[in-house]
Amino acid sequence: MSALADLLDHRHVLVCCGTGGVGKTTTAAALALAGAQQGRRVAVITIDPARRLADTLGLAGHTDAEVDRDRWDPEGRAPGRARLTAMMLDPSETFDGLVARYARNEEQRDRILGNRFYRNLAGALSGTQEYMAMERLHELHETGAYDLIVVDTPPTRHALDFLDAPQRLIRLLDNRVFRLMMAPARGALRVAGTALHLFVRQLGRVVGTGVVDDIVSFFRAFDGMEEGFRARADAVRTLLAAPDTAFVLVTSPRRDSIDEARHFAERITDHGLTVDALVANRVLPAFAEADAAADLRARATALRDRPATDDPDADAAGRRLADRYDTLADLAVVAARERAVLTEAATAMGTRPVYVPYLDHDVHDLGALREIGRHLVG
Ligand SMILES: Nc1ncnc2c1ncn2[C@@H]1O[C@H](COP(=O)(O)OP(=O)(O)OP(=O)(O)O)[C@@H](O)[C@H]1O
Ligand SMILES: [Mg+2]
Repeated sequence: MSALADLLDHRHVLVCCGTGGVGKTTTAAALALAGAQQGRRVAVITIDPARRLADTLGLAGHTDAEVDRDRWDPEGRAPGRARLTAMMLDPSETFDGLVARYARNEEQRDRILGNRFYRNLAGALSGTQEYMAMERLHELHETGAYDLIVVDTPPTRHALDFLDAPQRLIRLLDNRVFRLMMAPARGALRVAGTALHLFVRQLGRVVGTGVVDDIVSFFRAFDGMEEGFRARADAVRTLLAAPDTAFVLVTSPRRDSIDEARHFAERITDHGLTVDALVANRVLPAFAEADAAADLRARATALRDRPATDDPDADAAGRRLADRYDTLADLAVVAARERAVLTEAATAMGTRPVYVPYLDHDVHDLGALREIGRHLVG
C-alpha cells in the first residue's frame, strides 16, 4: 500500500499545505475523492477553489454540499457507507457562528454581530481565514460524522499561519489594551479606567467618536467570551498534534518552491509536528529506464553517424529523428534531476516524494481529480 493510501485509510485529518499555487486545493480535492473511493466518509474543506472545481464539488452557490454518489462513484465500486462532502470557507459567516456559540445570550450575540467595528473586523482580520479553516476542522471533527477530514490551506504568503492562528487569537485576548477596554465592565481599578478614558478621548479626536464607541462597545460586548475562545484554541491545537492527524506538504519541482517546502517542513517540525507525505506536483513524466538519457543520446548519435544514402529524403528523416532523440534525452536528464532534488528534499523531511505529473489540462472535473488521485495513491 502506498504511503498516501495508508494515510487515507488510517488517519482522521489530512492537512494539505504548501506555498502559493503549487496545487494544494487540487491535492485536497483529489485526496478526498480517493478517500471516499476507499470507503471512508470524507469531508473536504476547500478554500477559494477555482470556479469550475467548485461547481464540480457542488459548491456553486452553496458553502456545503454532499457530492452525489453516482457522480463520484459512477461504477458503484465504493463501499456503501462511503460519502463525499465538500465545504467552502466563508470566513465572516463562520466567525459569526463562533460569536453565536460563545455569547451568553441572544442579546450579547446581537450586540456583537450588529457592531460596525465587528462587521469590519470579521471580514478583514489578517489570519481570519487561517483561523476559520481550523475552526471548521474542529467543528467537523466534533460532529463525529466523518472518518476523514481533508483540509486545504489558504493561498497566503504566510501559508503556515493556520498553525499559529489559534494562538494569535489568544494573544489578542490577552492583549493589554484589550484587557483595559474590558476593565470597566469588570470593575477593575479606577486608575486604569481614567487612563483609558483619556486614551479613548484622544483616539476619538483622530478617528471620530462614532468609531471609538463602536470599538469600545465591541470589546465590552465580548466580556466573558474569552474563555470559550481560549478553550477552543487549545482544542484545535490538540487536534492538529493528534497522532491521527497528518500533514501533506505539496510542492512543485521548481527550486524556489522546493526551498519554500523545506522552510515549511522546518516550521511544521518547530511546532512539534511531522510532515507525513511530500507531494511533488507537476513533475515531468518519468522515463522507464534509469539510463534513458544515455540510451537516447546514443541513438541520436548513431543516426547522425549513418553514412549518407542515395535517398536524401530518408537521410533528412533520419536527422529529424536524431533531433527528437536528443530532445527526449534532454527531457530525461531534467526529469531525473527533478526527481533527485525532490528525493533529497523528501529524505531531509523523513519521507519519500509522491509524484504527480503535469497534466495537459487543468484539474476541474471529477475525471481529472480521479486521474490525480491515481498518481497520489498509486
Ligand atoms: N498536476 C497538475 N497538472 C495540471 N494542472 C494542475 C495540476 N495541479 C494543479 N493544476 C492546476 O493548477 C491550478 C492551481 O492549482 P491549485 O488551485 O490546486 O493550487 P493552490 O496551491 O491551491 O493555489 P493557491 O495557493 O492559490 O490556493 C489549477 O487550475 C489546477 O487545476
Ligand atoms: Mg488553493
